[in-house]
Amino acid sequence: MACPAPAAALMAAALPPGPALELCCGAGGITRELARTGRRVLAVDQNQARLRANRENLAAVGLEGRVAQLCCDLRRAALRRRPGAKPFAAAVLDPDWSPPGRPPREWANALSGLEPPLGDLLELALSLAPLAMLRLPRALARQAAEELAPGLTVQELAPGGRRWQWLWLARGAGRGQLTATSC
Ligand SMILES: C[S@@+](CC[C@H](N)C(=O)[O-])C[C@H]1O[C@@H](n2cnc3c(N)ncnc32)[C@H](O)[C@@H]1O
Repeated sequence: MACPAPAAALMAAALPPGPALELCCGAGGITRELARTGRRVLAVDQNQARLRANRENLAAVGLEGRVAQLCCDLRRAALRRRPGAKPFAAAVLDPDWSPPGRPPREWANALSGLEPPLGDLLELALSLAPLAMLRLPRALARQAAEELAPGLTVQELAPGGRRWQWLWLARGAGRGQLTATSC
């Protein structure tokens, strides 16, 4: 399910400047708002058709030049930080919350329902960027904040929306000021 533009825009504006890594970019509801902030974006998804739609949606607003795409399955270790390479300023994750084999919109009711596992996704994101923004069903946000991230700072981007919540995750010290968003 695409992230509504206003929520994506608020999240994108809350990121520090610099290039962003977007994991599970889909058709680009978030990609477009990341690119609108002027940053460069590496947008990753395993679905070729969604990447094509992502590219078309960017081209419709003249932003395709800011975004590179990578088609790969995040369960395969295709993404690795090269020695000496600069990290991304931030990683953004919007994975599929429909459990495998279940219809879209039937969201997982436990973190364990996610594939790829959320811990793996975060490990990957935080190996490539110092902070990660995660969009997840509101019902799971508290569980994620409590269980997921030993050693991580986890903050909700408040007040969030009725169904969805953005979490800010970083290694070490917290980020201080939070901005309002909803989706
Ligand atoms: C919720 S959608 C993203 C929606 C997008 N953020 C938007 O606002 O338009 C989740 C995306 O994750 C991708 N995805 C799911 N599992 C994946 C995997 N193992 N590797 C790469 N992409 C994956 C799907 O193809 C889908 O496009």
